[in-house]
Amino acid sequence: MSFLLLFYAIIANLLLRRAPIAAAAKITAVFAFGDSILDSGNNNHLVTAFRADHRPYGQDLPEKTPTGRFSDGKLTTDFIVSFLGIKEMLPPYLDPALNDTGLLTGASFASAGSGLDDLTARAVNVLTMGDQLKLFQKGLERIRRKVGAKRGRRVVGNGLFVIAVGSNDVARSYYGLPFMKTFTSSGYHDFLLKNFESFILRLYKMGARKFGLSGLPPVGCLPIQMTLNLSPDNFLKRVCVNQQNVDSQAYNTKLQALISRLQGRLKGSKIAYFDAFKPMMDMINNPQKYGELKLYLIHFIVYSNSFSPLLTNIIPIL
Ligand SMILES: *[C@@H]1O[C@H](CO)[C@@H](O)[C@H](O)[C@H]1NC(C)=O
Repeated sequence: MSFLLLFYAIIANLLLRRAPIAAAAKITAVFAFGDSILDSGNNNHLVTAFRADHRPYGQDLPEKTPTGRFSDGKLTTDFIVSFLGIKEMLPPYLDPALNDTGLLTGASFASAGSGLDDLTARAVNVLTMGDQLKLFQKGLERIRRKVGAKRGRRVVGNGLFVIAVGSNDVARSYYGLPFMKTFTSSGYHDFLLKNFESFILRLYKMGARKFGLSGLPPVGCLPIQMTLNLSPDNFLKRVCVNQQNVDSQAYNTKLQALISRLQGRLKGSKIAYFDAFKPMMDMINNPQKYGELKLYLIHFIVYSNSFSPLLTNIIPIL
């Protein structure tokens, strides 16, 4: 099965909650980068307020305890590694319990609150994308020391690199900081995507070949954005901020164009686009399709980051 098909088959399986597919492709490791969508606990080890090491996070995990994941349960990459039969969950790189053997099957370098604009990450004292790459470089050295250069190259070449980032940049930095308005929304997207491109190029130089890049979710439907945009007419009826959703789709169109350009240019690469917009929008419009619903008014701020399309307990704040 081709990598692209596999990637979408995994997602389709997860969404439809069918039996696991046979993992025909030889993906032997998963490496995750970006923000809270894929941070499995790196921020527990940083001095930042952006952390999920407290209740009610993690309450639907088997142990019912918070792990640092910004979710009630597993993250997308946890589902991916378990469906590939690699391991149950994708550990955070900064966890001291992660040894060299564990590293051979992958880890998450993502840091909640991070973004493609360093300003976004620095404002909340979390790992920039550059910091995440530096840690990956260190991890790669550990892998090489453990299994040698040749097998180390295979670990990276057969690894799946999943990257989900960008929503903090637009939601917090672009819409949140008045001086950003010197940029047009489209100009800021170009700046972000230039940084995304150089991130992918650096990973490619380090031997990465298989990538899954997430687009933006409907940013205007994030609970925090809806709260900030309450008006007297819609104070009781929380609604998505339409312009921000239009912007998210414009960014996603540019990201997909970037992916085709990179795909043509980077020999031997497979780059998949992961649509976070449509599934999320469908969950918001048709929550009854997605099984059990939980309405926690207290939790909504806590869950505002959990927009993995794979979460079954999405919180509808409408
Ligand atoms: C590495 O960690 C795994 C669990 O994450 C454990 O099962 C294994 O025994 C550890 N290996 C070594 C050499 O410590």
